Amino acid sequence: MREVEHPGGSHPATLILGIGELTTNAYEAVGVDAVDDPTGVIRDAALLLDGGRVAWAGPESACAAGVEQALGRAPDRVVGVEGRAVVPGFVDSHSHLVFAGDRSSEFEARMAGRPYAAGGIRTTVAATRSASDDELRATLRRHVDQALAQGTTTLETKSGYGLTVADEERAVRLAREVTDEVTFLGAHVVPPEHSRDPDGYVDLVVGDMLAACAPYARWVDVFCETGAFTPEQSRRVLEAGAAAGLGVRVHANQLGPGEGVRLAVDLGAAAVDHCTFLSDDDVAALAGSWSASRSGGEAHGTVATLLPGVEFSTRQPYPDARRLLDAGAVVALASDCNPGSSYTSSMPLMVALAVREMGMTVAEAVWAATTGGARALRRDDVGHLAPGARADVVVLDAPSRTHLAYRPGVPLVHAVWKNGREEVHPPR
Ligand code: NIG
Ligand code: FE
Repeated sequence: MREVEHPGGSHPATLILGIGELTTNAYEAVGVDAVDDPTGVIRDAALLLDGGRVAWAGPESACAAGVEQALGRAPDRVVGVEGRAVVPGFVDSHSHLVFAGDRSSEFEARMAGRPYAAGGIRTTVAATRSASDDELRATLRRHVDQALAQGTTTLETKSGYGLTVADEERAVRLAREVTDEVTFLGAHVVPPEHSRDPDGYVDLVVGDMLAACAPYARWVDVFCETGAFTPEQSRRVLEAGAAAGLGVRVHANQLGPGEGVRLAVDLGAAAVDHCTFLSDDDVAALAGSWSASRSGGEAHGTVATLLPGVEFSTRQPYPDARRLLDAGAVVALASDCNPGSSYTSSMPLMVALAVREMGMTVAEAVWAATTGGARALRRDDVGHLAPGARADVVVLDAPSRTHLAYRPGVPLVHAVWKNGREEVHPPR
């Protein structure tokens, strides 16, 4: 990476030149024909960041005029990336990062043939309850930093390993220190002290626990699955969360078929996550949720968020992304980073698994890990690189985004700008 410094403010205007392949996910804004390429790729491109926003994106040959029009002065900094590919920062719309301990022995047992069961969550609940705030904070920040180093610039994270009023409140409070995309998941499993009275636990979740957590959260979630919460209990939790002003998201159809996906669509959830076991009706409901008549003319359906790290780590069958895409559903990819079912925060790995194992093209997988995640969080400022978008930029140490799937496991993130600041630097 070559660069020319100009004296500038603490949040300078940066012009990135020499981009071999720029994925914008914004074909209209950058004038690329959608029929040829809905991901709006520009070759031999340049990108101008001004403060925390993208100011201009286009062919490098047009950049003098673009900079003049968008900035009206010389940029403070010019960086040359020597033919590398650039993609929008990854949007990881599903993680569980407020926890203590690990469950490597459970993983080892699974690899020796034991099945994954929701009950393992209670092991992490016990470890999390006994950890101090500082211990939880240190683990949380370590994972957020690891995710950023792998190109994740927007991250959702959840409570769900506390399961008392005080422990859940602590989890969303700590999560809020690292992201605005905080989800209250008091209904993750029924904790052991309530095992004889699951409905009594749901009373607590929709009562004092929700009241304590809602001020820190943007979303409410529930694990609607055998061994966790029934569809009726799940509906109670989600309706109470919505009444408290939270957006709805759901964990469903992970371990087997069930009613969770249709419940999510019924309640207008932003996303339903896992979607490993889907009936034809589930697929039709997800696709239909995006029709204008259902969503009041706005593009606000329910995203099917696929979490292939879970299938990798539990030896379950991968979800059928091709079936969802062919039916017209909107698909996101996320890490589900947690110590039980998917202990990885790597969005490049999710792209590789989706391409290799789930029938997605490279373009579809990169879109799902960026714009798809943004849709799942109902955000239009991230996940793309149109002028006006947040300046979240990943420079890959590769000539094309295809390398994300073609070279799995290789650290391909060369540099990352988040909100216009260079947060991950290449070796100088
Ligand atoms: O999304 N499915 C429920 N919750 C997590 C698993 C959490 C755990 O096993 O600790 C998930 O996979
Ligand atoms: Fe999860």
